[in-house]
Amino acid sequence: MIKIKSAPARAGARILGIGAYRPDRIVSNDEIAPAIDSSDEWIQQRTGITERRFAGEHETLVGMAVSASVEALAEAGIKPEQVGIVLMATLTNPVQFPAVAPQVASELGIPNPGAYDVGAACAGFVYALATAADMVKSGSIEYALVIGAERMTDVLDLTDRGSAFIFGDGAGAMVVGPADFNGFGPVVWGSDGSQSEAISMTSSWFDFRSGKVKEPPTLRMQGPVVFRWAVSEMVGVVQKALVAAGIEAKDLGAFVPHQANNRITDAIVKALDFPDSVAVARDIRNSGNTTAATVPLALHALRAEGRAISGSPALLLGFGAGLTYAAQVVVMP
Ligand code: UT7
Repeated sequence: MIKIKSAPARAGARILGIGAYRPDRIVSNDEIAPAIDSSDEWIQQRTGITERRFAGEHETLVGMAVSASVEALAEAGIKPEQVGIVLMATLTNPVQFPAVAPQVASELGIPNPGAYDVGAACAGFVYALATAADMVKSGSIEYALVIGAERMTDVLDLTDRGSAFIFGDGAGAMVVGPADFNGFGPVVWGSDGSQSEAISMTSSWFDFRSGKVKEPPTLRMQGPVVFRWAVSEMVGVVQKALVAAGIEAKDLGAFVPHQANNRITDAIVKALDFPDSVAVARDIRNSGNTTAATVPLALHALRAEGRAISGSPALLLGFGAGLTYAAQVVVMP
């Protein structure tokens, strides 16, 4: 058999920079509540959300992703031409193709990178980050740009009582590059397609196009089903990610779970008995649930609050439509 070469593997990979974009318009619970017969009090009590951001017409998916990426690249000290791959986690590409990642790369002036979208919903960013880390460690890529960006308002029905109050828009990005230490524990990921209906669309675009349904598809969520699944399954997933990384909860500097509902975060933190020294991300308060963007936005916010210690381990957790989930210990930049 002819031997073929592989790229020389690296000692490690790490996160080098983080960026965020939050749309200008802040939307209060009071603005959302009348259309769904709800209240600021109910939304705060059941989710922890006080406000979210909605993108204006000028705040496109590509534009928000570019803005977050510019900040991440600047912190990393990496020029666009050094980026070898762009991974874009999103479920709100307004068209089925082409993917958003090549457009984002082009706007950033990254010449001909590998670029594709990752369709793992709220787990998408952690899926993409883990993939990028392995690409860098394996030696096939030097620098990777990983983005989670959503315009959830494009797929929301603001009269749907089960989902209108939860979601928001925004974008977060991270740059991954070589390191002389290991900045990523093994990813623990999985899916359960038998529960694909738990978070889905009201119909397909094809049903709308053929006239079978009169309204364009929007998001629908069986909230209590997802809530119970997340609370019962994610504790084990987090435990596995800690064991895989060879650390204990007390060693963590931060816990950055998908910002789906503060009560889900509370249940996981309680079940795992995290000590007070672990900073727990609660960005949902001001950003709502931005799907693939929650994890980078929440870590960005923790750092802005001075609660994310550089060089210490953070546990990232994503979970949502699919159903999909992913957890990974990372070293904070
Ligand atoms: O990001 C993707 C992953 N998504 C998630 O992880 C979301 C997980 N699910 C959730 O966060 C929660 O299920 C929701 C926040 C969506 C809903 O909260 P819940 O505590 O599960 O509410 P529920 O649907 O069980 O309803 C409880 C009560 C009901 O009233 P009764 O029967 O107890 O009198 C509902 O009619 O709350 C009522 N209710 C509302 N009241 C005001 C349901 N929706 C609303 C609403 N405003 N929007």
